[in-house]
Amino acid sequence: MGIFLLSSPLVGALILTLSTLWFLPLVVVAQHSGITRHYKFDIKLQNVTRLCHTKSIVTVNGQFPGPPLVAREGDRVVVKVVNHAQKNISLHWHGVRQLRSGWADGPAYITQCPIQTGQTYVYNFTITGQRGTLWWHAHISWIRSTLYGPIIILPKLSVPYPFPKPYKEVPIIFGEWWNVDTEAVIMQALQNGGGPNVSDAYTINGLPGPLYNCSSKDTFKLKVKPGKTYLLRLINAALNDELFFSISNHTVTVVEADAVYVKPFNTDTLLITPGQTTNVLLKTKPHVPNATFFMAARPYFTGLGTFDNSTTVGILEYEHPTSLSSSIKKLPLFRPPLPSLNDTAFATNFTKRFRSLATTTFPTKVPLTVDQRFLFTVGLGTNPCPKNQTCQGPNGTKFSANINNVSFVLPSTALLQTYFSGQSNGVYTTDFPDSPLNPFNYTGTPPNNTMVSNGTKVVVLPFNTSVELVMQGTSTLGAENHPLHIHGYNFYVVGQGFGNFDPNKDPPNFNLIDPVERNTVGVPSGGWVAIRFLADNPGVWFMHCHFEVHISWGLRMAWVVLDGNLPNQKLPPPPSDLPKC
Ligand code: C2O
Repeated sequence: MGIFLLSSPLVGALILTLSTLWFLPLVVVAQHSGITRHYKFDIKLQNVTRLCHTKSIVTVNGQFPGPPLVAREGDRVVVKVVNHAQKNISLHWHGVRQLRSGWADGPAYITQCPIQTGQTYVYNFTITGQRGTLWWHAHISWIRSTLYGPIIILPKLSVPYPFPKPYKEVPIIFGEWWNVDTEAVIMQALQNGGGPNVSDAYTINGLPGPLYNCSSKDTFKLKVKPGKTYLLRLINAALNDELFFSISNHTVTVVEADAVYVKPFNTDTLLITPGQTTNVLLKTKPHVPNATFFMAARPYFTGLGTFDNSTTVGILEYEHPTSLSSSIKKLPLFRPPLPSLNDTAFATNFTKRFRSLATTTFPTKVPLTVDQRFLFTVGLGTNPCPKNQTCQGPNGTKFSANINNVSFVLPSTALLQTYFSGQSNGVYTTDFPDSPLNPFNYTGTPPNNTMVSNGTKVVVLPFNTSVELVMQGTSTLGAENHPLHIHGYNFYVVGQGFGNFDPNKDPPNFNLIDPVERNTVGVPSGGWVAIRFLADNPGVWFMHCHFEVHISWGLRMAWVVLDGNLPNQKLPPPPSDLPKC
């Protein structure tokens, strides 16, 4: 099993934790198919320096990025989270299906109230039918800018991967580094209504790399042996940016996305949206080459605002059996070409290559019939500027974002709690529109009136409803790619296209044979994507754009999935330590 060969001390801490977990399981209690793995996450502040700026950041156990959570398919995971920081916290296990364990899902004010300073909450869930890479992150305000880490789900004991066994496995988690406090950034932006500032750097495993000022010592280094296969577990934990990624002079094979195996395909360059994970096999060259190689990531951006257009790099270094490290330093360095920052053609072609395995062992369970159809527009809009204030949004308004023109307002209590206790009156309404109330040419000339409505509205789905959802991007205030994420479910991506979705012409082209199954999908800039899922997991499930700026502006909503009739189709009562608001 993977031992890492990385170089920085911070990543070293990550290695240590991971190897500790592998060889000295904390507490192991036998339980039906899997075991129970106990973790203790102490939320505390830690001083971290990047780009010559030191700041106090929120961490798990003082580590940045946070420690990996490792489990096998079928294991129960119990994470005791103790909040020692002077900030409200909640943690989300991004992509974990949380079958009938919605109380452990984590989004603040959706499934739980935040964990306050000094409080403890135990997240308790079982990993069922998933294997691959996911990740965990804070799910309140912009705290996830520093509070994130990998989730590594290994197959059940003695079950092989459906691809050659890798020599080693390495998590590669992309993030954003901000010299300033991100909480101040978003608070100020929501106040003045303008677009928030952008990050100062992108990072690979918390390290920006040598292309930034005062940063060359903070470079992720992957040391490899020739002629071996490495499994790279790529995670995009960046706040607001989709990323292209490439390793110079190397082709990789994509084998898994969002903890679901896919039909393998080769590529030199990847695109990964915030919220997505991609496992790739990297086959190293048969002989030690006389060169070292950059691995680089930079954004794919289609919006109108400003963005961080910088490039983070790490180094792929072949171990020279004889030479000293000083001579390695003299080797030529190759830099990979990356698509241009707005290369939508690349994004489209790359995204379309993802296909389910669709084998007997890993069948595709895409719903072939549909009980309920939804058309959701996703995009930007505005709210009026409050009296006696000047606002920095479009034409003196405040920026907003919406689904079907509803900008979702977070309640001051948790939706799941009020739903479960029958006290949802006055907290949310169940009239979230199935389709736009005022249809327009979504991808044509944008409408003059960009005002949204604001509310806490949900869609209620009976248990086992088969859902088809078309997400239609709008060009209001600029068309933009939006990575949409649903909690509690994977969905099948059955179709996508540019322009307006056509309910007559487009569905006949849907892929119901081997559509990719994921938890986050990019809605194409100026286009649409169609997904299907079976609402077989009772609870309240958040759905939102995984750009933190858009979620803050209201590009979010929730599905309430009702209990079924059978005992194993019901959401159990909440754990006794569930935080109160
Ligand atoms: Cu990774 Cu609701 O998010």
